[in-house]
Amino acid sequence: MLIIAYFGFEYSGNLIYNIGMQDAKEEIRARLAVEDVVGQYIELKRAGRNMKGRSPWGVDKTPSFMVSPEKGIWHDFSANKGGDIFTFVMEVEGISFREALEKLAAQAGVELKKYSEGDAKIAQKKVRAREELELSTKYYQVALTKNKPVCEYVFYKRNLNRETVKEFRIGYSPRTGRALIDFLSKKGFSQKEMEDAGLLNQYGGDLFRGRMMVPFIDTNGQVIGYTARVLDGGEPKYLNTPETMLFNKSRFIFGLYQAKEAIRRSGFVVIVEGNMDVISSHQAGVKQAVATSGTAMTEQHLKILSKLTSDVRLAYDGDDAGVKATERAINLAGNLGINLSVISDYHGAKDPDELIQRGAELWQDAVANYKPAVDWLLEKYEEKLDLTSAQGKKEYSDIAMKVISYLSDPVEKKHYEQKVAERLEVSIEDLRQKKVGDARPRRLKAIKGGGVNADKVKVIEDGLLAIMLFGGEAGAGINMDVPEDDVRLNELEFIYENKYAKMSADDLKAEVAELKKSYKKEEKAKEIAELTAKLSEFEDDEEKTKEILRKIQNLQKA
Ligand code: UTP
Ligand code: MN
Repeated sequence: MLIIAYFGFEYSGNLIYNIGMQDAKEEIRARLAVEDVVGQYIELKRAGRNMKGRSPWGVDKTPSFMVSPEKGIWHDFSANKGGDIFTFVMEVEGISFREALEKLAAQAGVELKKYSEGDAKIAQKKVRAREELELSTKYYQVALTKNKPVCEYVFYKRNLNRETVKEFRIGYSPRTGRALIDFLSKKGFSQKEMEDAGLLNQYGGDLFRGRMMVPFIDTNGQVIGYTARVLDGGEPKYLNTPETMLFNKSRFIFGLYQAKEAIRRSGFVVIVEGNMDVISSHQAGVKQAVATSGTAMTEQHLKILSKLTSDVRLAYDGDDAGVKATERAINLAGNLGINLSVISDYHGAKDPDELIQRGAELWQDAVANYKPAVDWLLEKYEEKLDLTSAQGKKEYSDIAMKVISYLSDPVEKKHYEQKVAERLEVSIEDLRQKKVGDARPRRLKAIKGGGVNADKVKVIEDGLLAIMLFGGEAGAGINMDVPEDDVRLNELEFIYENKYAKMSADDLKAEVAELKKSYKKEEKAKEIAELTAKLSEFEDDEEKTKEILRKIQNLQKA
């Protein structure tokens, strides 16, 4: 059901942002003494070349918080944190880097505006890209009116009316290969700007050719990209704008701009699979429809919707892929306070669009006829499995308990446990004794908490790096990447001086061996955690799942 046309290049706006800010950081660091900044929060006493104090995180009994005025850094040996003035203010005040930067800039008398040209450049680029896409959209709209066969497709084959075509700004991309490029060049846009807006293919020609163009419109009503459908049976059926500085597919919700008002007024949203389903749905009077474009639903999508309403209705296919997508959505919705339900009665139509072609009222009725997603999902499995056999009961209870484990409300949980227990003629205790997810364990959540201990890893890494860089002989056998960042290097030297410098050669050797051993152990845990996370990615791939499980077992044995 979801075939994703995705052309992979990622745009990193951050990089450019950092250039201007890096200079500002240096300037602030040069003007402010680390002991003065830290001294505003902690009482520091001189201790040789360094200064000492109590940990602001309250974990030490003896002063273990140290500052090196020479190096411009601090390190807390009890909390295993350290860094420069920026990280200190961020940590101690619990604020973002940006906020810490502003605070310290004010103290240092540094004017950030002067340095934020990088930011301004990006903002300027975005404005240009928006203008470019606005012009492109108008160009495509005009091209549609000039092309009779395409009009026939849009107005007669897809049955869209003028109002809908106008509201969704549907157009057509001529198939010459350079039509849009020539148009935009005349308007003063460079090849680079067209590439940045996601309008070119890898050979530098028009990306979209001979397709019905449906703009991605953001919640401000501005075009940020397109989904483009072939008119005949060509491949791919839909071609989408790649990720750009404007278009982020894991956040973008198709149709939200047009649906916002209706969602607010009626208090519910309908998520359909296809963009064309959204458009037809609007035309059929169900203006609450939206879709995730060319990608599976993400937590970000649901978070955005949860701000508008808690009544989220899924209109996915009833096929296996639809069942999987619903299960995934239940998992994502668990923590967002969303009431997830499913609209599923399409009277045999393939999708909402097809149903609407038979009659708008059929779709209107369908939308009013929804059922809690968990009930729907359980019924799907009841149909699929033989609940009179032991195997069927086992599989059913595996899946049911897994889905129930996604729910966060205890009353709701209990309700479904009771339901499943009755269905299988067992007690709730029997059910609860099952280890949830034996067949296909739910990995991500369990792993996040346990498994890898990020804190521990950091201490080990700090130790190994410090000895490798500053420990002479003892560091010879350690092979790690040398950090390039000065603050980090200073911090490591500081750790060496305070933790290891006084050890005898033999003790240091033993320490290195110990650190290496723990490091291996943590690495293994990390690898297992990563593999475990992969399991959910390849959930539908039996072979791959087996292979990953085998790898995990081998690691656990080793
Ligand atoms: P479908 O193949 O079900 O298309 O893909 P549809 O929405 O019914 O389209 P029509 O009615 O034939 O025009 C569902 C969704 O999967 C994405 C699109 O978002 C589409 O709406 N998709 C599909 C792609 O991104 N690329 C493709 O090549 C195909
Ligand atoms: Mn369709």
